[in-house]
Amino acid sequence: MTKNKIKFVDLGLVNRKYKTKYFNLINKIYDNSSFIKSNYNHILEKQICKIFKCKYSLCLNSGTDALIIALKSLGLKNGDEILTTSNTWISSAYAISLNNCKPVFVDINDKYLQMDENLLKKKLTKRTKAIMVTHLYGNPSKMDYICKFAKKHKLFIIEDIAQSQLARFKNKIVGNFGDIACMSFYPSKNIGAVGDGGAIICNSKKFFQKATLFANYGSVNFKDKDHKIVGFNSRMDELQAAFLNLKIKDLKKNNGVRKKLAKIYDKKCDSLGIRRIHVMPQAESAYYVYPIIVKKRDLLMKELKKENIYSQIHYEIPIHLQTAYKKTKRKDLKITENISKNILSLPFYPGIKKKQIERIFEVIQKNKFFI
Ligand SMILES: Cc1ncc(COP(=O)(O)O)c(C=O)c1O
Repeated sequence: MTKNKIKFVDLGLVNRKYKTKYFNLINKIYDNSSFIKSNYNHILEKQICKIFKCKYSLCLNSGTDALIIALKSLGLKNGDEILTTSNTWISSAYAISLNNCKPVFVDINDKYLQMDENLLKKKLTKRTKAIMVTHLYGNPSKMDYICKFAKKHKLFIIEDIAQSQLARFKNKIVGNFGDIACMSFYPSKNIGAVGDGGAIICNSKKFFQKATLFANYGSVNFKDKDHKIVGFNSRMDELQAAFLNLKIKDLKKNNGVRKKLAKIYDKKCDSLGIRRIHVMPQAESAYYVYPIIVKKRDLLMKELKKENIYSQIHYEIPIHLQTAYKKTKRKDLKITENISKNILSLPFYPGIKKKQIERIFEVIQKNKFFI
């Protein structure tokens, strides 16, 4: 008999409570015909500032656009080097390359799986101009050290908080440590849209204004007929903004649910001897996903699938080994490479049932030779 499916993320369940309200908003927007950068965008930008405790926010088409535009707004020069990690979604490296800069990959630490701050000095050259920090899996990087290092060497900091919405380091919300931060509202994110979406947050008027121009064809807004710089179009549509306005109100509460779930998973991992990711004592994770590190990842994934349990890999091929980056191949990213072979993200989302969690770990226990 086929067991009930355990999805990796059950978006139907996660989004169910917003459906009636959202469909009413769709009706309103449809009748008003204000589809682009109107009231719902402005309300969302205000909500983001309030929740993330920043001065400025700009809603955009995607997290990838946010990264590209954030770098544009810093005014970097061709050939500038940006220190970043290879164990992440490829958009961060793309944003660097599309700004004619060079990604310089720094390995990660093996306890927290974040940028290894102790390796930054080794990678520093005269051309280094910025550090792009991705707080991956919801887990904050060591921002006190990274900020000190950046200050000493006059480097910009760009934070990628796509996976770490409302995570904290030393009680400060990530995204507020650097010069500019980028987030994604990809549907599975802690605040996921019903399509693509992203945002920039920052505390600098100058960077905010520059980003606003880039995202709107080089003009300030619809009324501004002068295209001041070469820009492009990356605006959030009102249908996404309306949905996100509903969902963002639950971010804190949902992160609390994720934290409680993570504690259950942590206990299970520790009792079965499964290697898991740790959160720094000064940090509070947003628990975007729950990855474990096992010896025979692909075999375990297959066994889980046989039992109708769906896991995912974050990430299977590190950026420096992707075809698009084959020229930047490096030998000193050993932890990144090892992790990519052994990491597996288990089903994890607000609303997953205790019974389902039990079943996931029962199947893992049955296959303990793979862990
Ligand atoms: C860490 C990280 N950065 C950037 C992005 C890109 O965001 P988007 O998919 O909205 O373009 C993602 C993924 O969605 C991500 O996980």
